[in-house]
Amino acid sequence: MALKNAKIITVTSVKGGTGKSNLVLTLASEFSSRGKKVLIADFDLYTGAIAMLLKVDNSGNIFNFAADLMSNTFDDARDYIKKYNDLVDVLPAPRDPRSISKIDVKYIDLLIKKLIHLYDIILIDTNHMVDAVKLVSMDLSNQILYVMTNDIVNMRNMKTMVSIYKDMDKDNFSIILNSALGNLSYNKYDVRNVIGTDVDYVLPKRTYNRNIQKNILEGLLPEATKNDEVIKKIVDDLLN
Ligand SMILES: Nc1ncnc2c1ncn2[C@@H]1O[C@H](COP(=O)(O)OP(=O)(O)O)[C@@H](O)[C@H]1O
Ligand SMILES: [Mg+2]
Repeated sequence: MALKNAKIITVTSVKGGTGKSNLVLTLASEFSSRGKKVLIADFDLYTGAIAMLLKVDNSGNIFNFAADLMSNTFDDARDYIKKYNDLVDVLPAPRDPRSISKIDVKYIDLLIKKLIHLYDIILIDTNHMVDAVKLVSMDLSNQILYVMTNDIVNMRNMKTMVSIYKDMDKDNFSIILNSALGNLSYNKYDVRNVIGTDVDYVLPKRTYNRNIQKNILEGLLPEATKNDEVIKKIVDDLLN
């Protein structure tokens, strides 16, 4: 099997519930429809939902990897991965949130580095907090996607994050305004004026999915044939 060298993409936000996990699943469906081998790594460790959303078992996970390495029973990084289909695998979040404080973040870095040669794309789902897990994920990433809605709190917090990036001279991030979940009051130009940088992509209202609860119960990735042109554009840009 030829060795790959995955492009690592972190999907994050400065506020909860902006549609990150849904975007991760949609991107996974689009990448895999183009024949890319994808790993979805769920690093929203406390409230991770990917295993549940795709109905894969979460018995092996990042916590077991750390435990096995420490007890010298580690064998193969693939033991902690669950297969969703031929092109999409999942690294689930730990089953028991109480186990998370016992995980040293260095294991996250180690496991991703052991898996990077098996995939074309590693999509990291995160929560909205800036903690050690997030910092490791960002460091590993080629590109960071911020998913935001257009409410005031979200815009103000995004402005702070944009200034931090500017201070660090980092520009490997894109801003995605999720209009499917926001309100109608502010458009991408208003958002730009508040946050101090351009919005790179807008997920339009038409991407609101009325059947999302039904899809969740089915445990399936969104159908790639239904992916919006904005999703296709994001994936084109990420592949270039
Ligand atoms: N495009 C969409 N259409 C309809 N509902 C959505 C859409 N994206 C997300 N949701 C719903 O909004 C809520 C938050 O989405 P989620 O992807 O879990 O956000 P996050 O991962 O940022 O917390 C969930 O209940 C989800 O089912
Ligand atoms: Mg989520």
